[in-house]
Parts: sequence; structure tokens; C-alpha cells
Amino acid sequence: MKAIFYEQHGTADVLQIGERPTPEPQDHEVLVEVVATSVNPIDRRLRSGELQEYITRTFPVVPGWDLAGRIVRVGSKVTNWQIGDEVLGLAFTWSIQHGSYAEYCPIDAASITHKPASISFEQAAALPLVSLTAWQALSEFGQLQAGQSVFIQAGAGGVGSVAIPMAKHLGAKVYTTTSAKNRDYVKSLGADVVIDYTSEDYESSLREHEPDGVNLVLEALLGNGTAEAAIRLTKDGGRVAYMNNEPPEMDEIEQRNIKAEFLHHRPDGDMLTELVGLYQSGNITLPNIQVRPLEEAMDAHLESERGHTKGKVVLRLS
Ligand SMILES: NC(=O)c1ccc[n+]([C@@H]2O[C@H](COP(=O)([O-])OP(=O)(O)OC[C@H]3O[C@@H](n4cnc5c(N)ncnc54)[C@H](OP(=O)(O)O)[C@@H]3O)[C@@H](O)[C@H]2O)c1
Repeated sequence: MKAIFYEQHGTADVLQIGERPTPEPQDHEVLVEVVATSVNPIDRRLRSGELQEYITRTFPVVPGWDLAGRIVRVGSKVTNWQIGDEVLGLAFTWSIQHGSYAEYCPIDAASITHKPASISFEQAAALPLVSLTAWQALSEFGQLQAGQSVFIQAGAGGVGSVAIPMAKHLGAKVYTTTSAKNRDYVKSLGADVVIDYTSEDYESSLREHEPDGVNLVLEALLGNGTAEAAIRLTKDGGRVAYMNNEPPEMDEIEQRNIKAEFLHHRPDGDMLTELVGLYQSGNITLPNIQVRPLEEAMDAHLESERGHTKGKVVLRLS
């Protein structure tokens, strides 16, 4: 099969395109003929050699966890899926080898859901990882309720693009940061207050709107004091979901009864079914996508590294 793969860690130019053996699905998996996959920052971070203490590699590694496509084989213990079913899912594993930047990808049958006809394969491939991350942070961990407030850092990125409409769906007031060029985009997703981080100090701006802090912060940035600022911007008894790091050591976390955690997305086919239903009904807006051919994976990683993607970059197989 055709695949993007790397034989060693390194910069984006370790990505090769070529033929790889088609993987076999295990008993609990299905094999999906991939129509589209999408790029997440974790793909390039794993490629560069980060997070080896958490996620093991078997080289050559085919990167990618998001997929949309058709089932072509079904593992011996899988009873609820058929060959030909159109699906999307998060092919996450703690040990990477057979990812979704390929013509075929095995995936746990419990991590997929049906792709509705009204959502294209490209649009579907953009959804799994960011949607599960955002929903698990906002609804499960964050317990976000109607009338509450949430600060979503980096609103124009993959996670922000789905977290904003989800938070609006839950009835919250949404504050977000972006550069000026993405202001209209995050507004169209439902953001109530947009802070241009290139011209304003977001901590002071948010403090002016919410002197006591917000109920929930989704902190997608790393470094430059952002972890500490997230705590300061949270109400007493509020919550902070960190996307990249453990909470900072600050006495006020306990003193002000703040619940702060480093969250890691979890594959969950049932949750994905619920979320796809919300997208399909228009209750949550679909994120912007930029579709590129799979062959442009290296450029797509370079673009992701620059850190200014609007919504999601999707890679389409020919
Ligand atoms: N823990 C988990 O399970 C999990 C899951 C998914 C993602 N993550 C992490 O969460 C982070 C966000 O992921 P993502 O997929 O949304 O990334 P992404 O799509 O690459 O984010 C790009 C966006 O970040 C914005 N941005 C860049 N610098 C910013 C700044 N200083 N302030 C505000 N916005 C800024 C850019 O907006 P402008 O162009 O307007 O600057 C751009 O739209 C990544 O670090 C990723 O590794 C963690």
C-alpha cells in the first residue's frame, strides 16, 4: 500500500512516501481503506522524537491517528461492523507503527463511528482527535454548564475550532485568543469575546471582562507563563484543562479549590457518535479545513510547526 512513513526521528524531511505492507487487523480491530486523514500537532511531535516515555515506536512508523474511510476487513471478534461501512475514528495507540497517513489503517472497532452521508470524508477526517479532546475537556472534565464562562486559548487552531462551538452548545460564554486575521473566523464559530494576542495582553484583557475569573480554562499553549496565568484567570472552585503540560506548582491551586489537570484525549466511539450527531444536526459548527494530497505530508508538517493553521489540515488519498 502507499504510505507516508519515517524510519528514524527527525525534522519533517524524514517523512518518506513509498510502499509498505498492508497491515493486518487484530481480533478487536477493523481495517479501514483511508480516504482522508488529518494532521495534528502530536503527529509531528512524535515524528521529532518527543514523548518517547509515553508512546513507543516500531520503525518504520506510519504517522497519523485521525481517519475517515471504508471498512475492508473485520477482525474475528468484531460483530457490529461490516465490510463497506463508511466510518471515521481515532486510531490512537500507545505504541505507534500503523498510522492513518496510508491507504489502509487498522483501528479498534470501539474507536469508530458511522460517517453520515452529509459529512464529506475530508471533513470527517478533521474531527476525531480534536472533537474528543475538546468534548472531554469541556463537558467531562470541565463540567461546563449554561451560564458559565470558558476561556479557550488559541481559538483558531484545530482544538479551538471545535471547542468554541461546543462550549456555545453547552450554553457558556466563550472568550478566546487569536491573531487579528482569524478574528472573523472565531466569531463565526460563536466566540463572544475575541482577544487579539498580538496587540493585547490577554491576561489583562480577560481580567477586565471577568474580574473574578472564568469557570473553565482550556490552555493549549505551552511556556511563557501561560500555565500560571491560566490558574490566575480561573474562578475559585473552577477548572483548568492543560493540553500540553502538568499543572504548575502553585499554592493557590489548592487554596482556591481549583481542579487543574493535564488531559490526554481518549478514543471513544460512542462519544464520537454523539458528537457526529451534533455536527450533522448543525448544533455544533464544523471546523475550517484545508485539504491537501497525502503526498504533501511533509509540507503539512512544516505548516503545523509554524503554528498558525486555521482549523485543520486534511490529507486526502488519491
Ligand atoms: N492533550 C491532548 O490530548 C491534546 C489534543 C490535541 C491537541 N493538543 C495540544 O493542544 C495544542 C493545540 O492543538 P491544535 O490542534 O489546536 O493546534 P494547531 O491547530 O496547530 O493550533 C494552531 C493555532 O494556534 C494559534 N496560536 C498560535 N500561537 C498563539 C498564541 N500565542 N496565542 C493564541 N493562539 C495562538 C494560531 O492562531 P493564529 O494563526 O491566529 O496565531 C493557530 O490557529 C497543541 O499544542 C497540541 O499539541 C493536546
